[in-house]
Amino acid sequence: MQNPSGSSRIQCAKLRNKIMSAEEAASLIPSGVNVGMSGFTGSGYPKAVPSALAKRIMDANIYGKKFKIGVWTGASTAPDLDGALAMVDGVEMRLPYQSDPTCRKRINAGEMEYIDIHLSHVAQFVWSGFLGKLDIAVVEVTGILEDGRLIPSSSVGNNKTWLDQADKVILEVNSWQNPELEGMHDIYYGTQLPPNRKPIPLLRTQDRIGEAYLRCDPAKVIAVVETHSPDRNSAFSAPDENSRKIAGHILEFLEHEVKKGRLPANLLPLQSGVGNIANAVMAGLNQGPFENLTAYTEVLQDGMLEMIKSGKLTCASATAFSLSSGALAELNADLGRYKNNIILRPQEISNHPEIIRRLGVIAMNGMIEADIYGNVNSTHVMGTKIMNGIGGSGDFARNAFLSIFMTPSQARGGEISCIVPMASHVDHTEHDVQILVTEQGLADLRGLSPKQRARAVIDNCAHPHFKPALSDYYKRALDHSPGKQTPHLLEEALSWHLRYLRQGAM
Ligand code: COA
Repeated sequence: MQNPSGSSRIQCAKLRNKIMSAEEAASLIPSGVNVGMSGFTGSGYPKAVPSALAKRIMDANIYGKKFKIGVWTGASTAPDLDGALAMVDGVEMRLPYQSDPTCRKRINAGEMEYIDIHLSHVAQFVWSGFLGKLDIAVVEVTGILEDGRLIPSSSVGNNKTWLDQADKVILEVNSWQNPELEGMHDIYYGTQLPPNRKPIPLLRTQDRIGEAYLRCDPAKVIAVVETHSPDRNSAFSAPDENSRKIAGHILEFLEHEVKKGRLPANLLPLQSGVGNIANAVMAGLNQGPFENLTAYTEVLQDGMLEMIKSGKLTCASATAFSLSSGALAELNADLGRYKNNIILRPQEISNHPEIIRRLGVIAMNGMIEADIYGNVNSTHVMGTKIMNGIGGSGDFARNAFLSIFMTPSQARGGEISCIVPMASHVDHTEHDVQILVTEQGLADLRGLSPKQRARAVIDNCAHPHFKPALSDYYKRALDHSPGKQTPHLLEEALSWHLRYLRQGAM
C-alpha cells in the first residue's frame, strides 16, 4: 500500500527526489544479481519491492525468459518476500536462513540453492567477498533524516552490511513502523576484518556502543519507495502440556544451579530460540522466582515482552522483534515506554561469539532430534530435507555459558522418536551440547563421558515408548562395538530413520 500521509518521513531532499513506485523500483533489479534484503523473522522486511519483482519475474517466465536472483537476508522473512519469489521460481541462491514453506519445497526439490550459515558469520563472509558481489540492497527503514542517515525499522539483521557493501540501494520507507523506534537501535561501526580486529566494548547487556542510525551514501540510492504495511506476525500457540513440562524442567535446573552457587540469583543473560517451546519457557520464567533478569538474544518473542511488562526482565538486547499480532499491537501502543528496556543491534553483534562468551549467556534452543550421545540436529528431517536452518543456534550453543537444547520427546503423533541412536544430521556436536530437555526430563551432560551421556539421555529424555529399544540398542552396541569410546552398531545406527521412511514409523 502506498503511504497515504505523503513523504513526511523522508527529510532528505536529495532522496525525496528518488521517490518512485515499487514497480518502477523493481524494474531496476535485473536478472542474475545478488540482492541483500532487510528482514528478520517477519519484521523489518521490504513490503512492496519483492512482490513487484515477483510479478516481473512471472511476466518474464511467461515469455520463456529465465529470471533469477540471489536473495540474502538477515534471517526468515515473510510470504510477500520469500514466498512470492519462491512461488515464481525466482531465486537462484538463498542465504542465510529461511522458514518459508514454498521456499523449503523448492530447496528440497533441488530447484533453489540454499546456504545455511551461522548468522554471526554472514557479515564477515560478505566483507571478505566469500559469497560473491552484493549488487543491490533493498532495505526497509522507519524514516530518513535530513542528512541521509536512516532510522532503522523493527529489525536490524544485516542491514548495515547490505547498505555498506551493495553497489546500489533501494529504500522502502514504511510509515506503518512506529516513529518511536527512533533511538531504540545501537548500530556498531567498529567491526573489522582480521588482522585489524579490536575487542568489542560491550560488557553488559544494556551497554550501547554504537549509533542510533544506519549510515548510507545517498549517491548509491537509486530508488525510494513509500509503503504503509504491517510486519508479518508470528502466531504462537498457548503453551501445551509438553512445553509446560519442558519449561518446568529448565526452571528447576536453573534454581538448582543458583543454589549450588554456579549461577547468580538473577541468572545470566538469557538467549531464547525461535518457536513455541522457546516462547513457553519464557512464559515459565515469567511465573518463576527469578528477578532482574536480562536477555542477550537474537529475537524478542511474546514471552520476553511479557517479562519486560511484568518487570522480571530489565533489559533485552536482540536484532529483531518476532511477535504475535496481539503483542505487536501492545508494543506499538506503548513503544516509548520500552526504549530503556530494549536494544536492537546488527546480527553480527547480537550473535557475536566474543560477546556471548564474555556475558556468559544461557542459550536455550529447539531441535529436531538428538542422539544418545548428545549430538543435535536442528535443521534436517530424516537427514536430508531442510526444515529451516541453523540460524543463530550455533553462534549461541558453542559460546554460551550454558547450552540447552529442547524438544518434545516424540514428533508426528508419536511415529518419530526425537531421541535416536545416531543423529541423521549434526549441527551441534556433543561438545557444544550441555543440557538436553524433553517433557520426560532433563539430562545434564556436563562432565560426563560419552557412555555416561548415553545413559543420562536415554534414562531422562526418551519417551517410554522408545526407551526400551534405545536401551537395547545401546547395550548391544556396548557389547559388540569395536570402538568402546562411543559405542555404535554402524549397520543399525540409522535404521530408525530408514524404518520411518519405509514404514511411516520409527
Ligand atoms: N523428525 C521429523 N520432524 C520433526 C522432528 C523430528 N525428529 N521434530 C520436530 N519435527 C517437525 C514437527 O513435526 C514440526 O513439523 P510441522 O511444522 O510440519 O508440524 C516441526 O518440525 C517443528 O517442530 P515443533 O515441535 O513445533 O518445534 P519448534 O517450533 O520449536 O521448532 C525447530 C523446532 C528445530 C524446527 C526450530 O527450533 C528451528 O528451526 N531451529 C533451528 C534454528 C534455531 O535454533 N534458531 C534459534 C537461534 S536464535
